[in-house]
Order: sequence, then C-alpha cells, then structure tokens
Amino acid sequence: MSTKRPEALRVAVLASGRGSNLQAVIDAIEAGTVQAKIVSVISNKKDAPALERASRQGLSSLFVDPKPYAGRPDSREAYDRELLDVLRRHNVELVLLAGYMKIVTKVLVEAFANRMMNIHPSLLPSFPGLDVQKKAIEWGCKLAGCTVHFVTEGVDEGPIILQAAVPILDDDTSDTLAARILEQEHKIYPRAVQLFAEGRLRVEGRRVFIEAGKPDGQAVISPS
Ligand code: GAR
Repeated sequence: MSTKRPEALRVAVLASGRGSNLQAVIDAIEAGTVQAKIVSVISNKKDAPALERASRQGLSSLFVDPKPYAGRPDSREAYDRELLDVLRRHNVELVLLAGYMKIVTKVLVEAFANRMMNIHPSLLPSFPGLDVQKKAIEWGCKLAGCTVHFVTEGVDEGPIILQAAVPILDDDTSDTLAARILEQEHKIYPRAVQLFAEGRLRVEGRRVFIEAGKPDGQAVISPS
C-alpha cells in the first residue's frame, strides 16, 4: 500500500565518479517527481566530480579516505564502519550507490538491508562486474540495459527492483551503447527511489513486488 510520509525520505548517495545518476536524482527531486532529500553525498575518491556536483548544488559532500585502513585485514569493514557512522549521524533512511566503485561489506549491507540500492549498466544477472557494455556487444546480445537492485553481500546480486532494456545496434561501440543505457539509468533510478519513498516496494526472497503498481506486460523485442 502506498504510504504518505510526513517528511521527505532522507537519502545518502555514495559515488566514485562523474555522478550523472546523482544528478538525475537531484533533478527529479527538484522537479517534484521524487519526494526525497539528499542529506549526504560521500565518495571514496577525493577528486570525484560527483562531490563537486554535490557542493555546487549546496548538498553536504564528504570524501572518506580509504588509505588509513589499507593493509589491515579488515580494511573494507573498518572503512564501512566509518561510513556507517556518517550515515547514522545524518539519520539516513535510504542509501544509493551511484557509480560507487568499491565493494560494500556486511557492515553496511546489514545496517541497510533492503534500504540500499545500486544501479548497474546491464540486465542482471547477465554481466555483473566491469566493462559490461563491451561484454554484452561481444556476446552478441540483441538487448542490453540497466538494473536497479537492492544491495546484498554478493556483488550485483541483490533483488531486482526495476530494469530497462535498450537494443544493441550493429554499429554500437561500448561508448554508444553505454550512452543509450545511461539515458535509461537516469529514468529508472529516480523512479525506484520514489517507489521506495512511497513505501511501495515489498521484498519476498529474491523478488521485489511493487504495491498498487500497474505493470503493462508489454514485451521488449530487439531487433523490432
Ligand atoms: C553508471 O553507468 C552506473 O550504472 C555504473 O557506473 C556508472 C556511473 O555513472 N555502475 C556500475 O558499473 C556499478 N557496478 P555516473 O557516475 O555518471 O552515475
């Protein structure tokens, strides 16, 4: 059932790169299509354009340096404990990984079970990991796409919330395909956040159901 929240959903975004998905969520919030507030943008990369984007928008942005933890047997967990402190201080309700190129550990996964999302530029479970647009072309796929999923301990493995498919064209390079996929990422990530904000996502095992949704049931065929 859709639930009306008294206050905007408190969201944190973890990003390592250019931050176009972060921007898509910011834009959707400004346009009023997503009822949320970004309370913190955090990066493991000091010079991440995403951090600059955040500050330009007047959002709280923070670089958390992984270096002090390097070499420790629990370096990833220790790093995530520092992130968790920040997230708790900001009373974060939903964490978005948006081009966050660091594996998150149990520390964050358990604290934010079914409250942490990731966007990935393939139709999972095909092509988890890196360079996935190139891999989809080389495999000879006719469709590629993107996936928003809840984050679990397995990389790119959690329950799928939304997916969008795009055709792979004969003359596609990984760059042209990545650009076509990215356009869809910018649509489905804000959409997933709004579904969460409305309390409409119900997780049962691996499956995520959208309450009061109206799936259109149409097939996507490529080549059409
Ligand atoms: C996006 O294409 C996102 O799907 C991908 O990194 C890019 C980040 O772009 N994420 C992954 O590959 C995670 N496995 P952005 O910084 O412009 O949002």
